[in-house]
Amino acid sequence: MLYELVKSARSCRGFDENVKLSREQLEALVELARLSPSSVNLQPLKYYISCTAESNEKIFVLTHWAGMLKEKKLPYEGHRPTAYIVIFHDTSITPATPAFLKDAGIVAEVMYLGAAEMGLAGCMIGSFDTALMQQATGTEASLLPVLVLALGRADETARLTDIPQGGSTAYYRDENDVHCVPKRSLEEIILNK
Ligand SMILES: Cc1cc2nc3c(=O)[nH]c(=O)nc-3n(C[C@H](O)[C@H](O)[C@H](O)COP(=O)(O)O)c2cc1C
Repeated sequence: MLYELVKSARSCRGFDENVKLSREQLEALVELARLSPSSVNLQPLKYYISCTAESNEKIFVLTHWAGMLKEKKLPYEGHRPTAYIVIFHDTSITPATPAFLKDAGIVAEVMYLGAAEMGLAGCMIGSFDTALMQQATGTEASLLPVLVLALGRADETARLTDIPQGGSTAYYRDENDVHCVPKRSLEEIILNK
């Protein structure tokens, strides 16, 4: 089941804006993050939940989507995420170091898969301006935004494709606007034969 969930949970950049997410649903995802592993068990990550039109708009305008498909201007108008969880590093607990970026990756993935299990979809967004995100969320300077998880109900389709060894990993859209995500083969990524 986990294999099927991971396989189907593609980064989503087109959402059904009629499907709103509740604060309770988002808190249930943060609960998954809370229970996740943390380097030295310091748990320096904090979460800002957004599921109102007003806060969603403030966050959306700061996020950059599908850098490899800039001409598409994704998500399309009327197909934006209906919720966000912004992951912050609380530097009053411990300074932000690469070790804790790993923590952020772990919690992002568990919330992403948790959303998929709820029938939702998401996209991790690392491309945004830190200072503007602090301003938009009204958080103090000691709270460093590290990753945004955009969420909603998918209204686009995506599929995985294989790439020949040495081929491009660049994602693309096919003639039907299906988002295609090339993945390296198992043979290529396992180092010891
Ligand atoms: C840490 C991280 C940051 C990402 N940042 C962005 C981003 O800023 N904008 C975006 O559109 N996608 C972003 N993505 C999504 C990747 O583009 C996506 O994972 C990749 O294309 C593979 O597609 P898949 O997630 O469907 O396997 C990010 C993914 C990760 C793991």
